[in-house]
Amino acid sequence: KELEKLKIIIEKNLNSKLDNIKRNVYEQSVFKERVPISIFEHPSLGSVFVARIIADTIIKKQKLGEKCILGLATGSSPISIYSELVRLHKEEGLSFQNVITFNLDEYWPIDKESRNSYHAFMFSHLFNHVDIKKNNIYIPDGTASSKMIEQNCLKYENKIRELGGIDLQLLGIGRNGHIGFNEPGTLKSSITRKVKIEYTTRFDASEEFGGLNNVPKEAISMGTRTILDTKEIILIAWGSNKAKIIKKAVEEKKNDVVPASLLQEHKNTLFVLDKESAASLDRFICPWVYTDISKKPKNPLSSTIIGWSNKNIKKAVIWLSLKMKKSILLLTDEDYNENGMGGIFEKFKSSYETNIEVFNMLQNTITGWPGGKPNTDDKSRPEKSHPGKKRVLIFSPHPDDDVISMGGTFDRLIQQGHDVHVAYQTSGSTAVWDDYVLEIFDLNNNIAKVLSKNSRFLESINKYSQKIKNYIENKIDFEGFQILNQIKSSIRKSEAYQACKFLGLNKKNNIHYLEMPFYQKGVKKRTDISSTDISLVEKLIKKIKPHQIFAAGDLSDPHGTHRLCLRALYRAINNLKNLSFMKKCSVWLYKGAWNEWKINDIDMAIPMSPDQIIKKRKAIYKHKSQKDGAVFPGNDPREFWQRAEERNAKTAKNYSDLGLAKYAAIEGFKKYK
Ligand code: F6R
Repeated sequence: KELEKLKIIIEKNLNSKLDNIKRNVYEQSVFKERVPISIFEHPSLGSVFVARIIADTIIKKQKLGEKCILGLATGSSPISIYSELVRLHKEEGLSFQNVITFNLDEYWPIDKESRNSYHAFMFSHLFNHVDIKKNNIYIPDGTASSKMIEQNCLKYENKIRELGGIDLQLLGIGRNGHIGFNEPGTLKSSITRKVKIEYTTRFDASEEFGGLNNVPKEAISMGTRTILDTKEIILIAWGSNKAKIIKKAVEEKKNDVVPASLLQEHKNTLFVLDKESAASLDRFICPWVYTDISKKPKNPLSSTIIGWSNKNIKKAVIWLSLKMKKSILLLTDEDYNENGMGGIFEKFKSSYETNIEVFNMLQNTITGWPGGKPNTDDKSRPEKSHPGKKRVLIFSPHPDDDVISMGGTFDRLIQQGHDVHVAYQTSGSTAVWDDYVLEIFDLNNNIAKVLSKNSRFLESINKYSQKIKNYIENKIDFEGFQILNQIKSSIRKSEAYQACKFLGLNKKNNIHYLEMPFYQKGVKKRTDISSTDISLVEKLIKKIKPHQIFAAGDLSDPHGTHRLCLRALYRAINNLKNLSFMKKCSVWLYKGAWNEWKINDIDMAIPMSPDQIIKKRKAIYKHKSQKDGAVFPGNDPREFWQRAEERNAKTAKNYSDLGLAKYAAIEGFKKYK
């Protein structure tokens, strides 16, 4: 419903693209952005906007009786744009009869029918569902022999030129800044040709190909020159994984190392971003340097920070202290004034007063009592002191998120005598290697032999291990698949149980395996939750009536599982918000497996001693199936325990750099209000 409402707002406000660009030019002159950008609350809204621009271009050309030449991209980002174009075709009569398309790239070598070919991608997401003429579709040929490639590429270039050039080019951006398969270092003069695919790009594609070794090492790609010669360019980027590279492409001087930054020299380029991919831009990190934030910006969608609220003052002072490499209490009036923060003195009279305010705000987030300190004045503490012993419910999207992200806090909650429950929202079964299951079968086989009396057990192990082997080799025995999946779930369940037990949570009744159905649909289909998912969460909350809930607020996991788990929790909380126990329940969000809170976001900081760090590490080790190379590591080569330790240590270092006490590690939590 919210999305529908927002879509209507977008329709109203952004009907004129020209207005939007004009506004961008204004904002570009304020911030240090070198290319116009448009930021949307959510990728689906950005997608509606981009699809509308594409549709307008097609219609304009139709009216003139001309062909419309589109340059198209593949990857995860344009999928929602293509589905909106399909909707426009089916529901609003948008015709593709006058459209000719050129795709940016294709793997080489690859069969057209291979499910990972860009050819197959384009047909399944767009071409099969609209009325485009099949001979108006051009995609580089991944089946061409080495000898033919050069000739084919020149033909491709000539065809584009012959048709008068590309009217509108859609682009995604790789984490390394590539556009098409123009990897870092590509020459600006490059045209369509065979290219080597860089390691990070292959790594990012490895899940789809079922392992890095299966990802082609080469591709055929339009060149940077081909792209710069198009008449209009729209680059899209969604999600926090793209934030770093977007900052480089948008704010740094153009350079070959970030191919997308070369678009700065194109006269008609627009970057369409969602809030997460735009989050590292200076307009969000330190807008006060560029603009008077006490005034409302002209563009409501520019989403810069508005007004010197306490929250914004805290954010700005932390930024200033880290920038100046001075602890907060050492900041001077001059530091504030020179960095666009003089406006704060209308609220707090001086740097002295501001420093103390912010220092105390931060000091008050630190506590060794995550469940509240019994029998104390809790006015300036993050958690209520009453009741002294709380019912705590920890939601963990995968079976190891609890210990990775809040293992130290989990430990303290148990040590301090709270009634801790853990709910594992999904089975996490897809993240177990097939080989690992076979190893476990082998182990069981040996155990059965030792116990040799139980020959039926031995027989059934042999029978099912054969079935599973067949499935792994041929991928056809459905029963084999189901058993494999169930065994993977049970491996993860028992690992989670071992980790809980290690931390002192022995009561089996306090450990809940929700197996939310959205997860069982498979990696590629997990797009939303259903009422069953929500009601599983709701029922558990109602049953336990917790005083505290902990849940994952980390939205950067590669398959969006955390996002969907959090969505289910928010909906459940919303449904229950009028119940009296719920009104008193505090909800704390953790991060850690994929990302970490920024210091200004942390409302409760739980310090850890060196010994607690080791204990947490051992609890994470209990998840053996995720050690020594997880199936889905995302784009971070470190093991989960290493990420957690480095992130917790960094949070502690940031606190001490700001002038607060020096701890070995800190786990941070944000309060959901
Ligand atoms: C696709 C392409 C690539 C992608 C880029 C981003 O045709 O050439 O440059 O646009 O790798 O991919 P996603 O959208 O999957 O993040």
